[in-house]
Amino acid sequence: MDLENMTLPRHVAVILDGNGRWAARRGVPRAMGHKAGCETLEKMVEAAARMGLEYFTVYGFSTENWKRSEEEVGALMNLFRYYMVRIIKIANDNNVRVRMIGEKNRFAPDIIAGIDRMVESTKNNTGLTFVVAINYGGRDEIVRAARKLVQDYRANGLDVSNITEASFAGYLDTADIPDPDLMIRTSGELRLSNYLLWQLAYTELYVTDCLWPDFNQEELEKAIAAYNQRERRFGGRK
Ligand code: IPE
Ligand code: IPE
Ligand code: MG
Repeated sequence: MDLENMTLPRHVAVILDGNGRWAARRGVPRAMGHKAGCETLEKMVEAAARMGLEYFTVYGFSTENWKRSEEEVGALMNLFRYYMVRIIKIANDNNVRVRMIGEKNRFAPDIIAGIDRMVESTKNNTGLTFVVAINYGGRDEIVRAARKLVQDYRANGLDVSNITEASFAGYLDTADIPDPDLMIRTSGELRLSNYLLWQLAYTELYVTDCLWPDFNQEELEKAIAAYNQRERRFGGRK
Protein backbone atom coordinates (compact mmCIF):
# COMPACT_ATOMS: atom_id res chain seq x y z
CA MET A 1 0.00 0.00 0.00
CA ASP A 2 1.22 3.49 -0.81
CA LEU A 3 1.55 5.32 2.47
CA GLU A 4 3.55 8.12 0.81
CA ASN A 5 0.50 10.22 0.04
CA MET A 6 -1.31 9.54 3.27
CA THR A 7 -1.49 11.38 6.54
CA LEU A 8 -0.05 9.17 9.24
CA PRO A 9 -1.95 9.29 12.51
CA ARG A 10 0.43 10.41 15.25
CA HIS A 11 -1.03 8.00 17.74
CA VAL A 12 -2.63 4.63 16.98
CA ALA A 13 -4.28 2.71 19.81
CA VAL A 14 -5.25 -0.95 19.48
CA ILE A 15 -7.54 -3.35 21.32
CA LEU A 16 -5.87 -6.63 20.45
CA ASP A 17 -8.78 -9.01 20.59
CA GLY A 18 -9.45 -12.49 19.22
CA ASN A 19 -6.60 -14.62 20.53
CA GLY A 20 -9.11 -17.05 22.05
CA ARG A 21 -11.15 -17.34 18.86
CA TRP A 22 -7.98 -17.86 16.83
CA ALA A 23 -7.06 -20.77 19.10
CA ALA A 24 -10.60 -22.20 19.07
CA ARG A 25 -10.60 -22.26 15.26
CA ARG A 26 -7.48 -24.38 15.36
CA GLY A 27 -8.72 -26.57 18.21
CA VAL A 28 -5.73 -25.61 20.38
CA PRO A 29 -5.69 -24.22 23.96
CA ARG A 30 -6.40 -20.50 24.44
CA ALA A 31 -2.85 -20.01 25.69
CA MET A 32 -1.60 -20.88 22.20
CA GLY A 33 -3.70 -18.05 20.86
CA HIS A 34 -2.15 -15.67 23.37
CA LYS A 35 1.34 -16.82 22.37
CA ALA A 36 0.53 -16.23 18.69
CA GLY A 37 -0.84 -12.82 19.73
CA CYS A 38 2.46 -11.95 21.44
CA GLU A 39 4.35 -12.86 18.27
CA THR A 40 2.07 -10.55 16.29
CA LEU A 41 2.67 -7.82 18.83
CA GLU A 42 6.45 -8.05 18.41
CA LYS A 43 6.11 -7.70 14.65
CA MET A 44 3.66 -4.82 14.95
CA VAL A 45 5.95 -2.83 17.26
CA GLU A 46 8.66 -3.09 14.60
CA ALA A 47 6.18 -2.21 11.84
CA ALA A 48 4.84 0.81 13.72
CA ALA A 49 8.38 2.05 14.35
CA ARG A 50 9.40 1.56 10.71
CA MET A 51 6.27 3.31 9.50
CA GLY A 52 7.13 6.37 11.58
CA LEU A 53 4.21 6.42 14.02
CA GLU A 54 4.93 8.50 17.13
CA TYR A 55 2.77 6.55 19.58
CA PHE A 56 1.43 3.00 19.45
CA THR A 57 -0.70 1.95 22.43
CA VAL A 58 -1.92 -1.63 22.89
CA TYR A 59 -4.40 -3.10 25.31
CA GLY A 60 -2.79 -6.29 26.55
CA PHE A 61 -4.68 -7.02 29.76
CA SER A 62 -7.67 -5.24 31.27
CA THR A 63 -8.64 -4.75 34.91
CA GLU A 64 -11.54 -7.12 34.08
CA ASN A 65 -9.31 -9.86 32.61
CA TRP A 66 -8.41 -11.07 36.14
CA LYS A 67 -11.89 -12.66 36.10
CA ARG A 68 -10.70 -15.26 33.59
CA SER A 69 -9.74 -18.76 34.76
CA GLU A 70 -6.68 -19.11 36.92
CA GLU A 71 -5.13 -21.21 34.20
CA GLU A 72 -5.59 -18.53 31.53
CA VAL A 73 -4.41 -15.68 33.77
CA GLY A 74 -1.38 -17.77 34.75
CA ALA A 75 -0.55 -18.45 31.10
CA LEU A 76 -0.82 -14.74 30.30
CA MET A 77 1.49 -13.82 33.20
CA ASN A 78 4.08 -16.31 31.96
CA LEU A 79 3.85 -14.84 28.47
CA PHE A 80 4.42 -11.36 29.94
CA ARG A 81 7.51 -12.67 31.71
CA TYR A 82 8.92 -14.10 28.49
CA TYR A 83 7.98 -11.36 26.04
CA MET A 84 8.94 -8.42 28.26
CA VAL A 85 12.56 -9.48 27.90
CA ARG A 86 12.26 -9.86 24.13
CA ILE A 87 10.54 -6.48 23.77
CA ILE A 88 13.57 -4.77 25.35
CA LYS A 89 15.76 -6.00 22.50
CA ILE A 90 13.20 -5.19 19.81
CA ALA A 91 12.69 -1.73 21.29
CA ASN A 92 16.39 -0.97 21.49
CA ASP A 93 17.00 -2.26 17.95
CA ASN A 94 14.25 0.05 16.65
CA ASN A 95 14.83 3.17 18.78
CA VAL A 96 11.52 2.52 20.59
CA ARG A 97 10.73 3.86 24.04
CA VAL A 98 8.39 1.67 26.12
CA ARG A 99 5.86 3.03 28.61
CA MET A 100 3.24 1.32 30.70
CA ILE A 101 -0.24 2.52 31.58
CA GLY A 102 -2.42 0.75 34.13
CA GLU A 103 -2.02 -0.20 37.76
CA LYS A 104 1.31 -1.95 38.06
CA ASN A 105 1.16 -2.97 41.70
CA ARG A 106 -1.34 -5.78 41.26
CA PHE A 107 1.27 -7.83 39.38
CA ALA A 108 3.73 -10.27 40.97
CA PRO A 109 7.02 -8.61 42.08
CA ASP A 110 9.07 -10.14 39.26
CA ILE A 111 6.63 -8.80 36.65
CA ILE A 112 6.75 -5.34 38.25
CA ALA A 113 10.55 -5.51 38.08
CA GLY A 114 10.31 -6.62 34.44
CA ILE A 115 8.06 -3.69 33.55
CA ASP A 116 10.44 -1.28 35.28
CA ARG A 117 13.39 -2.77 33.40
CA MET A 118 11.58 -2.46 30.07
CA VAL A 119 10.77 1.21 30.70
CA GLU A 120 14.14 2.12 32.21
CA SER A 121 16.30 0.45 29.58
CA THR A 122 14.46 2.08 26.66
CA LYS A 123 13.82 5.53 28.11
CA ASN A 124 16.49 7.31 26.06
CA ASN A 125 15.19 6.04 22.72
CA THR A 126 13.77 8.81 20.58
CA GLY A 127 11.62 7.06 17.95
CA LEU A 128 8.24 5.42 18.49
CA THR A 129 6.72 5.44 21.97
CA PHE A 130 5.18 2.01 22.53
CA VAL A 131 2.61 2.19 25.32
CA VAL A 132 1.52 -1.10 26.92
CA ALA A 133 -1.82 -1.01 28.71
CA ILE A 134 -1.76 -3.85 31.24
CA ASN A 135 -3.98 -4.19 34.28
CA TYR A 136 -5.47 -1.14 32.60
CA GLY A 137 -9.07 0.02 32.86
CA GLY A 138 -10.29 3.45 31.81
CA ARG A 139 -12.50 3.83 34.88
CA ASP A 140 -9.73 2.66 37.19
CA GLU A 141 -7.36 5.18 35.59
CA ILE A 142 -9.85 8.03 36.11
CA VAL A 143 -10.45 7.05 39.74
CA ARG A 144 -6.70 6.85 40.42
CA ALA A 145 -6.27 10.25 38.75
CA ALA A 146 -9.01 11.72 40.96
CA ARG A 147 -7.26 10.37 44.07
CA LYS A 148 -3.93 11.87 43.01
CA LEU A 149 -5.60 15.18 42.27
CA VAL A 150 -7.38 15.34 45.62
CA GLN A 151 -4.18 14.46 47.49
CA ASP A 152 -2.31 17.15 45.59
CA TYR A 153 -5.00 19.78 46.18
CA ARG A 154 -5.24 18.96 49.87
CA ALA A 155 -1.51 18.89 50.45
CA ASN A 156 -0.99 22.19 48.68
CA GLY A 157 -4.20 23.95 49.72
CA LEU A 158 -5.20 24.53 46.09
CA ASP A 159 -8.49 25.95 44.87
CA VAL A 160 -10.67 23.31 43.12
CA SER A 161 -12.16 25.90 40.80
CA ASN A 162 -8.79 25.83 39.02
CA ILE A 163 -9.30 22.22 37.85
CA THR A 164 -9.61 22.11 34.05
CA GLU A 165 -9.87 19.30 31.52
CA ALA A 166 -6.22 19.83 30.68
CA SER A 167 -5.05 19.87 34.29
CA PHE A 168 -7.14 16.77 35.11
CA ALA A 169 -5.63 14.94 32.13
CA GLY A 170 -2.23 15.58 33.70
CA TYR A 171 -3.12 13.15 36.50
CA LEU A 172 -3.99 10.31 34.11
CA ASP A 173 -1.47 7.57 33.27
CA THR A 174 -1.30 9.10 29.78
CA ALA A 175 -0.16 12.53 31.03
CA ASP A 176 1.99 14.05 28.25
CA ILE A 177 0.84 11.48 25.63
CA PRO A 178 -1.42 13.00 22.94
CA ASP A 179 -4.89 11.45 22.54
CA PRO A 180 -5.09 8.67 19.93
CA ASP A 181 -6.05 9.74 16.40
CA LEU A 182 -7.07 6.23 15.38
CA MET A 183 -8.28 3.31 17.49
CA ILE A 184 -8.32 -0.14 15.93
CA ARG A 185 -10.19 -3.08 17.43
CA THR A 186 -9.54 -6.51 15.96
CA SER A 187 -12.05 -9.39 15.94
CA GLY A 188 -15.17 -7.41 15.27
CA GLU A 189 -16.62 -6.44 18.66
CA LEU A 190 -18.23 -3.00 18.67
CA ARG A 191 -17.35 -1.87 22.18
CA LEU A 192 -14.61 -0.10 24.08
CA SER A 193 -14.23 -2.66 26.88
CA ASN A 194 -13.05 0.05 29.29
CA TYR A 195 -10.19 1.21 27.03
CA LEU A 196 -8.92 4.81 27.18
CA LEU A 197 -12.36 6.19 28.07
CA TRP A 198 -11.11 9.75 28.54
CA GLN A 199 -8.61 9.78 25.70
CA LEU A 200 -10.84 8.36 22.93
CA ALA A 201 -13.32 11.26 23.14
CA TYR A 202 -12.70 12.32 19.50
CA THR A 203 -10.67 9.42 18.15
CA GLU A 204 -11.63 7.81 14.82
CA LEU A 205 -12.67 4.18 15.36
CA TYR A 206 -11.86 1.27 13.05
CA VAL A 207 -13.06 -2.28 13.67
CA THR A 208 -11.83 -5.22 11.64
CA ASP A 209 -12.92 -8.86 11.71
CA CYS A 210 -9.29 -9.90 11.44
CA LEU A 211 -8.29 -11.82 14.59
CA TRP A 212 -5.28 -10.32 16.39
CA PRO A 213 -2.86 -13.23 15.71
CA ASP A 214 -3.60 -12.76 11.98
CA PHE A 215 -3.07 -8.98 12.09
CA ASN A 216 -0.07 -7.61 10.21
CA GLN A 217 1.43 -4.52 8.63
CA GLU A 218 -0.95 -4.73 5.67
CA GLU A 219 -3.96 -4.70 8.02
CA LEU A 220 -2.51 -1.68 9.83
CA GLU A 221 -2.05 0.07 6.50
CA LYS A 222 -5.69 -0.69 5.59
CA ALA A 223 -6.78 0.96 8.82
CA ILE A 224 -4.60 3.98 8.12
CA ALA A 225 -6.02 4.21 4.59
CA ALA A 226 -9.56 4.15 6.02
CA TYR A 227 -8.55 6.84 8.51
CA ASN A 228 -7.39 8.97 5.59
CA GLN A 229 -10.92 8.81 4.13
CA ARG A 230 -12.45 10.20 7.30
CA GLU A 231 -13.38 13.79 7.79
CA ARG A 232 -12.24 14.50 11.28
CA ARG A 233 -14.51 16.70 13.33
CA PHE A 234 -14.21 17.82 16.89
CA GLY A 235 -17.75 19.03 17.40
CA GLY A 236 -17.34 22.25 15.47
CA ARG A 237 -18.37 22.95 11.90
CA LYS A 238 -15.94 23.87 9.18
C1 IPE B 1 -7.39 -10.80 23.58
O1 IPE B 1 -7.88 -12.01 23.16
C2 IPE B 1 -6.30 -10.94 24.61
C3 IPE B 1 -6.72 -10.58 25.99
C4 IPE B 1 -7.84 -10.04 26.32
C5 IPE B 1 -5.75 -10.86 27.05
P1 IPE B 1 -9.09 -12.75 23.89
O2 IPE B 1 -8.54 -13.72 24.86
O3 IPE B 1 -10.05 -11.77 24.45
O4 IPE B 1 -9.73 -13.52 22.67
P2 IPE B 1 -11.27 -13.84 22.41
O5 IPE B 1 -12.02 -12.55 22.53
O6 IPE B 1 -11.68 -14.82 23.44
O7 IPE B 1 -11.29 -14.39 21.03
C1 IPE C 1 -10.44 -6.24 25.81
O1 IPE C 1 -10.71 -7.48 25.33
C2 IPE C 1 -9.21 -6.30 26.68
C3 IPE C 1 -7.95 -6.54 25.99
C4 IPE C 1 -7.81 -6.66 24.69
C5 IPE C 1 -6.78 -6.61 26.82
P1 IPE C 1 -11.71 -8.49 26.07
O2 IPE C 1 -11.82 -9.68 25.21
O3 IPE C 1 -11.27 -8.68 27.46
O4 IPE C 1 -13.05 -7.64 26.09
P2 IPE C 1 -14.56 -8.11 26.07
O5 IPE C 1 -14.74 -9.04 27.24
O6 IPE C 1 -14.80 -8.78 24.77
O7 IPE C 1 -15.35 -6.85 26.20
MG1 MG D 1 -11.77 -10.95 23.77
